Amino acid sequence: MNSFNFSGKKILVTGASGFIGSHLCRRLRDSGATVHGISRTVQSSNEACSHWGQGDLADIEVVRDLLRTVEPDIVFHLASHVVGARNLALVLPTFNSNLVSTINLLTVATETNIDRIVLIGSLEEPEQSDTYVVPSSPYAASKWAGSGYARMFHELYQTPVTIARLFMVYGPAQQDLRKLIPYVTLSLLRKQPPKLTSGMRQIDWIYVGDVVDGLLAMVQAPNIKGSTIDLGSGVLVPIRTVVQKLINITDSDVEPALGNVSDRPMEQVRVANIADTYAKIGWKPTTSLDKGLEYTVDWYRELSDRN
Ligand SMILES: NC(=O)c1ccc[n+]([C@@H]2O[C@H](COP(=O)([O-])OP(=O)(O)OC[C@H]3O[C@@H](n4cnc5c(N)ncnc54)[C@H](OP(=O)(O)O)[C@@H]3O)[C@@H](O)[C@H]2O)c1
Repeated sequence: MNSFNFSGKKILVTGASGFIGSHLCRRLRDSGATVHGISRTVQSSNEACSHWGQGDLADIEVVRDLLRTVEPDIVFHLASHVVGARNLALVLPTFNSNLVSTINLLTVATETNIDRIVLIGSLEEPEQSDTYVVPSSPYAASKWAGSGYARMFHELYQTPVTIARLFMVYGPAQQDLRKLIPYVTLSLLRKQPPKLTSGMRQIDWIYVGDVVDGLLAMVQAPNIKGSTIDLGSGVLVPIRTVVQKLINITDSDVEPALGNVSDRPMEQVRVANIADTYAKIGWKPTTSLDKGLEYTVDWYRELSDRN
């Protein structure tokens, strides 16, 4: 874990109650920042944020009011509807929570005086180099369009925005228990066979603590405004290998039901360019997949023992 000093900085984290947002808020607080968090759900307690707001960022008046009240030096925009399924029902929620919220934030941030905005892109976005581009899901389309708007805002209006392209993030306290690693881990701990796809998809997995280090390094690096920074491990590992590692760590004799769920169409296979990231922000991941999965299993084991 790198040490950063954000003393005296006012930092707004959108999506602060989410998986990555909560880890980021704790690190920012420990680095001396005053952290303002926001999401739609009322938070009864969130010890990492000194100030908590509640609102839907798809409403531009909420965003105007938020930035006027907080006057942040830096914004990390993590709020998003994070579901990669292909269902029609996901088109509007991803459009509103991902694209409209991003455009609202970019618009209001450009009208005000903010040093840095970090937007969160995704490995699910189609490659820029493709000539005929078809995003693979409503989520991918919304993230891809959001990144396009960010580049446009930077070019046309000099908005100080940088995009962090995150790969598949895992780690303790991922609240959405339908996501692969929490789902498989809890199934194994409960001695139930997880129902899975073929498990052949190759994914670049990255530990949440490394992602937080990368996000903090991004706001301290010079000359990267307008660019996209990959935060991944730089290595592809198939889902079935990760499942086998989880079986080994939990010492389980449960057989996973591979092939029980259809593979999704048009899955992206993309690996982070971590040499480019290191050159731009001096960051590289430090947590191996084996270590990261051990930390993750420990956390879910405690959760499982408590319930
Ligand atoms: N996890 C991954 O593997 C991964 C990979 C690539 C990129 N990312 C990106 O990383 C970011 C964080 O992901 P995560 O895994 O931490 O997601 P998460 O746990 O689902 O958290 C999403 C957060 O966004 C908030 N939110 C959603 N819609 C909102 C809206 N309209 N207005 C205000 N807040 C809203 C949610 O709270 P409420 O529901 O209470 O509003 C929650 O706090 C996202 O931008 C995601 O696309 C994640």
